[in-house]
Amino acid sequence: MGGGSSDAFFAFLVFLAMSSAAACDRCVHQSKAAYFSSSSALSAGACGYGSMALGFDGGYVAAGSSAIHRGGVGCGACFQIRCKNTSLCSTGGVKVILTDLNKSNTTDFVLSGPAFAAMARNGKAQELKKLGILDVEYKRIPCEYKNHNLSIRVEENSKSPNYLAIKFMYQGGQTDIVAVDVAQVGSTNWRFMSRDYGPVWSTSRAPAGPLQLRVVVTGGYDGKWVWAPKPVLPAEWRTGSIYDMGVQITDVAQEGCFPCDPQDWN
Ligand SMILES: *[C@@H]1O[C@H](CO)[C@@H](O)[C@H](O)[C@H]1NC(C)=O
Ligand SMILES: *[C@@H]1O[C@H](CO)[C@@H](O)[C@H](O)[C@H]1NC(C)=O
Ligand SMILES: *[C@@H]1O[C@H](CO)[C@@H](O)[C@H](O)[C@H]1NC(C)=O
Ligand SMILES: *[C@@H]1O[C@H](CO)[C@@H](O)[C@H](O)[C@H]1NC(C)=O
Repeated sequence: MGGGSSDAFFAFLVFLAMSSAAACDRCVHQSKAAYFSSSSALSAGACGYGSMALGFDGGYVAAGSSAIHRGGVGCGACFQIRCKNTSLCSTGGVKVILTDLNKSNTTDFVLSGPAFAAMARNGKAQELKKLGILDVEYKRIPCEYKNHNLSIRVEENSKSPNYLAIKFMYQGGQTDIVAVDVAQVGSTNWRFMSRDYGPVWSTSRAPAGPLQLRVVVTGGYDGKWVWAPKPVLPAEWRTGSIYDMGVQITDVAQEGCFPCDPQDWN
């Protein structure tokens, strides 16, 4: 074989390797999952949802390992998780939303009781719970909120007019929020906000309201602006109130992985 053709062959191999690890929106990961007998454990601090978390997805919530929680960036992300014992586990598994961090390094997910039981075939939930820790496979999936737009809750530590802390809620799609800007309605003087923790962002330099908002999410391999199409916060915004952004995120960020499993598990 001459140099030229082995170079070409090598290039072909590289091309094959790259295309098989190519952009994927449903990377499948192997891991383990356990459950909390008390679901109140899942509404604790690390994502700041409080007891609200228990109302998300009918209580199908989960705490993730540090790798899943990603310093809070993973809060609110959705996952489909199924266990692997075919006599006990349904093929569709369960869809959960991440609401907390669990530092235990023996499992990637600690599910709420209802979510754990929902992985079982009919009539097998008790048997599954007795096992306690299960081998699972999971993939990140888009979050779907039929009855909500992306929304923000003004946090209690906000202090009108300049200190503004907001928590993102009902974040659809499969992306991460990586930047947030706020400006007075009609102004182009955008001020950036910083992530406090999890889904909570703040600034001590908020302009006087009414306020408009824009965020950058990862979408595809790139970032993408998502603009609220209307004023989000009124001049007299209130702590504890939830404000609709008038827009929902449907983008899906790509990962590189192999194998890729774009199918829905049913
Ligand atoms: C599946 O679970 C049943 C009941 O616990 C057990 O008897 C069986 O060995 C398990 N199968 C596998 C492949 O682990
Ligand atoms: C992590 O989850 C386990 C259940 O698997 C629980 O016993 C433990 O208290 C949790 N740890 C933290 C820090 O939440
Ligand atoms: C898991 O955590 C325990 C206790 O925190 C630690 O001793 C152990 O080294 C950790 N294992 C891995 C694989 O990180
Ligand atoms: C989302 O916002 C749009 C535009 O403001 C609005 O028409 C729609 O009713 C909102 N959807 C929900 C579910 O609130």
